[in-house]
Amino acid sequence: MDEDTRQSSPIIRIENVTKSFNGQTVLSGITLEIREGETVVILGASGSGKTVLMNLLVGLLEPDSGRIMIDGQDVTAFTRDSQWDEVRLKIGFLFQGSALYDSMTIGENISFAIRHHLNLTEEQIRDVVRQKLSMVELEGAEDKMPSELSGGMQKRAALARAIALEPQIVVYDEPTTGLDPIRAKTISELIVRLQHELKITSIVVTHDLICASHVADRLALLHEGKFLFVGTMEELRRSDNEYVREFLDSSSLRH
Ligand SMILES: Nc1ncnc2c1ncn2[C@@H]1O[C@H](COP(=O)(O)OP(=O)(O)O)[C@@H](O)[C@H]1O
Ligand SMILES: [Mg+2]
Repeated sequence: MDEDTRQSSPIIRIENVTKSFNGQTVLSGITLEIREGETVVILGASGSGKTVLMNLLVGLLEPDSGRIMIDGQDVTAFTRDSQWDEVRLKIGFLFQGSALYDSMTIGENISFAIRHHLNLTEEQIRDVVRQKLSMVELEGAEDKMPSELSGGMQKRAALARAIALEPQIVVYDEPTTGLDPIRAKTISELIVRLQHELKITSIVVTHDLICASHVADRLALLHEGKFLFVGTMEELRRSDNEYVREFLDSSSLRH
């Protein structure tokens, strides 16, 4: 591979992936390349398979057919779960809902993976936690319990946890759902900042078009098991595809 090819090669390649549950086809042959440092937004109506796709990317589900390449490795060829361990260190995941561990402090939530994967002293761990919390503007929240934080703060704490191991890739599932517009904007701004400051490749699942237009380099619209559209926000807005128009109209009405 020459230098140019390597620089432009995608960090994630989804190739003709299919997934069904009990005879119901959710993904029927989707293909998408995501380049290093890029933010790609996955759009789609509720039930269109966005979360299924996210789960395929982090190995919580296996495709029925097709291939997923992550940073040059064919993760669909893995035969043991332990093969995922190394790949998972490269991927931070912000689950739908913040999914913080309720019985742990915010500091413990963030340091959990650090403790398991890095060989750091207690003082170094405290420093990393402090740094991640400052990145999401939650300085001093180490000893708080998740229940003591507002919804927006919980999302930010979960985001600090997602970036604890300095992943190359972060997958966000509905990062702004359930937040008021101002808090949603804060999260969108954070996603952009992380992309710029940490050079993170981001995949953002959302049906929030305001968030999408804020963060996306490109968008992909999932409909009836396929990507009906892949392109920039401007191209999406100019599309004369009937479903795209319908999706944009209904989304802008909702938000
Ligand atoms: N583990 C599962 N078992 C059976 N059906 C599932 C499973 N996960 C998702 N589905 C189905 O796949 C479809 C897409 O779900 P999902 O990816 O969660 O949608 P969304 O785009 O809203 O995130 C839904 O019809 C859902 O019921
Ligand atoms: Mg979902």
